Amino acid sequence: MDDERSGGLSPTSLSGKRILFGVTGSIAAYKAAGWVRELTTRSALVTVIMTAAAKRFVSAMTFGALSGNRVYSDMFAEQPEELMAHITLSREADVLLIAPATAHTISRLACGMADDLLSTVVLAAKIPIVVCPAMNTAMYSHPATRQNIDRLRELGYHVVPADSGELACGEEGSGRLPEWEIVQEKLIALFCPQDLLGKRIVITAGPTRESLDPARYLSNRSSGKMGYALARTAARRGAEVTLVSGPVALAAPHGVTTIQVVTAQQMHAQVLELSGAADIIVKAAAVSDFKPTTYRSQKIKKAQGFTSIAVEENPDILAELGRKRRKGSLLIGFAAESRNHEAEGRRKLLQKKADLVVVNDIMGSKTGFDVETNQVILVDAEKSKQLPLLSKEETANRIWDHILTL
Ligand code: PMT
Repeated sequence: MDDERSGGLSPTSLSGKRILFGVTGSIAAYKAAGWVRELTTRSALVTVIMTAAAKRFVSAMTFGALSGNRVYSDMFAEQPEELMAHITLSREADVLLIAPATAHTISRLACGMADDLLSTVVLAAKIPIVVCPAMNTAMYSHPATRQNIDRLRELGYHVVPADSGELACGEEGSGRLPEWEIVQEKLIALFCPQDLLGKRIVITAGPTRESLDPARYLSNRSSGKMGYALARTAARRGAEVTLVSGPVALAAPHGVTTIQVVTAQQMHAQVLELSGAADIIVKAAAVSDFKPTTYRSQKIKKAQGFTSIAVEENPDILAELGRKRRKGSLLIGFAAESRNHEAEGRRKLLQKKADLVVVNDIMGSKTGFDVETNQVILVDAEKSKQLPLLSKEETANRIWDHILTL
């Protein structure tokens, strides 16, 4: 299956992408209507093909209204522009998404049948095809269905495994249409150059918390957004990503192994354990440099008088990685600076023996902690490169682009 890929920077959205959306006769067709809405709100261009059975669940008018385009279903339609629809539709699309995909449609595609418009388009298509099975658990686990799904994978189609949970028929088990976010990630990844394919990448994100007593801790303003954007974008570009995250209010990125930690000590232990097998380590976490010398097992009372906190240093994980890293691996640090940005970045590059330091200004209202954007300086052994103000996701893609030049 020769995938067509868009050139240029990895897109962080589906804007402008032409999605040919096949809908088949499952009760989950109503969810597909919501997915069309999700796509059009992201400025994707959606054209829907329905099987006859799909129209028994949701009307073509619904999909026409949501997509803003005519809906195709009949192979032998009268209108002239539809005469060659089975050829032209896929030529004018970037990806074919079939959701929900019934057991019947899956079996027809596995045999290469062309008995309706959708199955004929599949055979004529030269674009990536994503299939989302949805059916009753017994049907989904039936050997015939399993064989057909395996066959689709052999044909190079991207099958998104069904979800588990309560089904429309009231039974529990696998066979549910997956969550939209998972399918969206799959679609975005299809348009990303897989230039990090096979790379084992460890990323740290978020703050750490150093407890003082059962109620209080030392921490910082890191939200994890920068590190999570790095993890999400690396996974889309084919990397095998492990994210070691301090406590944040973000959902774990799809397709990423996320390990939650709280203290700098725990982050230190996890990262050192993972570092031996990593090709690239990116330290975006805001690790607390200090922790209270004493942990009070009871909540400190005001009456006890509380005027100072004795602290001691936490391990410098980046510095230790710089001393111990595997030959051939890459080590990327971040620098949260309020002044002398480039000089401080270069000092840390040398002092910590890193290959790249990403410097961000924590005083700006649109850069650094807990904002959606960042404006960083990339400092490596040869040069410094100032990036413009970008979303953290686009900043992450630029960081990966730069890492690939090292
Ligand atoms: O999470 P967000 O809200 O999106 O904010 C993003 C960010 C500002 C946290 C991020 O872009 C960033 O700058 N992270 C590094 C913050 C930090 O700790 O910078 P630093 O200059 O204090 O530390 C330098 C480097 O040493 C960092 O890679 C840090 O992970 C590492 N470090 C620091 C202390 C320590 N004990 N161990 C470490 O490994």
